[in-house]
Formats: sequence, structure tokens, C-alpha cells
Amino acid sequence: MDGQQEIALIEAATAVREWAYVPYSGFAVGAALLDEAGQVFSGCNVENVSYGLSSCAERNAIFAAVGQGARRFVAVAVVTGAETPTPPCGACRQVLLEFAADDDMNVVMATTAGDRRSTRLSALLPEGFSSFKPDNPG
Ligand code: THU
Repeated sequence: MDGQQEIALIEAATAVREWAYVPYSGFAVGAALLDEAGQVFSGCNVENVSYGLSSCAERNAIFAAVGQGARRFVAVAVVTGAETPTPPCGACRQVLLEFAADDDMNVVMATTAGDRRSTRLSALLPEGFSSFKPDNPG
């Protein structure tokens, strides 16, 4: 991922964050994925009055992308309004791993105030569960 793609990804995550449905937490999250072909897919968190049914931005982005035929992602951007950049939750890390190109991807975390931090999925989820995972889900 080059610098321009990183900026585009953060912009996509910032834009979709506006659609977050967060009446319970008030914590809006936007996520955007970059696939191997250079396509961008995005998702926001959607909460539910039955709190446990709420769904994170990262997983919504993955599921929307897979439903459009994309399966191998090289990067994800996560944008929140928190004080410091927010890493994906544990459940989302495992779902990201399922569709990470060559079992890893860049994770860019940004705040609406412009703070930014980058890491790799392998750093956030060492030894993720992959016993039955196909080598190449694509
Ligand atoms: N949330 C995300 O969308 N992504 C994360 O990685 C962490 C948490 C959402 C879930 C819930 O709607 C709100 O943030 C507060 O937990």
C-alpha cells in the first residue's frame, strides 16, 4: 500500500463513519478495506437495542466486501473520534485474518482529529486460530 492509497483508505473510513448507527454507545467507527486489486470497501458499526447484536465497523466492511466478490485484503483503516487511534477488537482481528492476503495485512488507525498509527494484523493477533482455514480463501 502506498501513501496515496493509505490516505484514500482513511478518507473512505472517515466518510462511512458518518453512517454509523450508535444510539447506545455514541462511539462511531468507520472501517475501509483495500483488496489486492486496489478496490476499496467500507463499513460502519451498527448497534441494536439488544446490545450483543451490535456489529463492528470492521466486520461489516469485510462482510460487505465478501458479498461483492472480494476476498484478499492488504490493508484496513479504522477511524474513530477517540483521543487516540483505536485498534480493532479481538473478534474483528480474527475475521480480518480470515481474509488477509497471505495471512497478514496493514492496519491503519486514525482519529478524526488527525492522529495516526500503523501496525500489522500479525502484531495485533499473534497465533490467531487458523486450523481449518484454507491457504487461499480467494
Ligand atoms: N466497535 C467497532 O465498530 N469496532 C471495534 O473494533 C471496536 C468497537 C464498535 C462496537 C460498538 O458499536 C461501539 O464500537 C462501542 O463498543
